Amino acid sequence: MTRRHFVGIADFTPKEYQTLLSRAAAMKADTERPSFPGKVLALLFEKPSLRTRVSFDVGMYQLGGHCLYLSPAEVGLGQRESVQDTALVLSRYVDVIAARTFAHRSVQELAEYGSVPVINALSDQEHPCQALADMLTMQEHKGELKGRTIAYIGDANNCANSLLLLAAILGVHFRIASPQGYQLQPAVLEQAQQSGAASGAEVFMTEDPDEAVQGADALYTDVWTSMGQESERVERERIFHPYQINKALLRRANPNAIILHPLPAHTGDEVAEGILYEPQSVVFDQAENRLHAQKAVLATLLECA
Ligand code: CP
Ligand code: NVA
Repeated sequence: MTRRHFVGIADFTPKEYQTLLSRAAAMKADTERPSFPGKVLALLFEKPSLRTRVSFDVGMYQLGGHCLYLSPAEVGLGQRESVQDTALVLSRYVDVIAARTFAHRSVQELAEYGSVPVINALSDQEHPCQALADMLTMQEHKGELKGRTIAYIGDANNCANSLLLLAAILGVHFRIASPQGYQLQPAVLEQAQQSGAASGAEVFMTEDPDEAVQGADALYTDVWTSMGQESERVERERIFHPYQINKALLRRANPNAIILHPLPAHTGDEVAEGILYEPQSVVFDQAENRLHAQKAVLATLLECA
């Protein structure tokens, strides 16, 4: 078997994503219980986390394996030791690595130099595990994904990139409203359009949130200031102020549209007070689904390793 990674959404085919979603649903329903006794996952994190860290740890335990957490201060990725040497050393001890980094290149290098599967647990460019859980959540609440529409309101960040790229693979239309200067990177848009040409998914970009939410089955937002951008917070709060999911925006959207957010949320910024607890909000299902989606990814990668 050939070693596989989940560094970005491009790492799996449309058919493989269908299988991953089915497996995640089966593991959630407890009808599929793969077991990897003695296998060890290393979590190598440069940034804080609640959901990703806990869901990987619990997921690995439920798969019969073990998980160890390496904090930012412990490893000093690329500072105390090069990414290359870290990958070479860790590969001698563990069976799979999940890394949360600033530079996307660091996750790519871990995959290049190590000899075990590598999972992107969030980089500045992508958050593929989140996108897989997002699609599982949308499938649970909306059924068949193909032909559905997601409206993303806010920063075209790591979560937006992975969500768009997976939507395009799965035939889900993507409408994104972001201010000038914070819109999709041309290379990401091009990659999505290539996938969309095969799946039928369309991408629509606007600066107007009201326009983006028209006809959407899901409204999605994420923080305006991602980890590592803290020095830009004041300016971002000013620029993104019109890009909030609030009651006024919900009134313009399809009343059956679900609300998604990867969390953690900044109430008063990208979501108004109370929005996460509206009946339309499924953000806590979405957080739970990180566990099931990642177990499907872990099982798939461990079977190939
Ligand atoms: N959504 C998400 O990745 O959350 P954490 O940063 O808490 O892991
Ligand atoms: N875009 C956010 C996602 C956190 C889960 C960040 O990178 O901080």
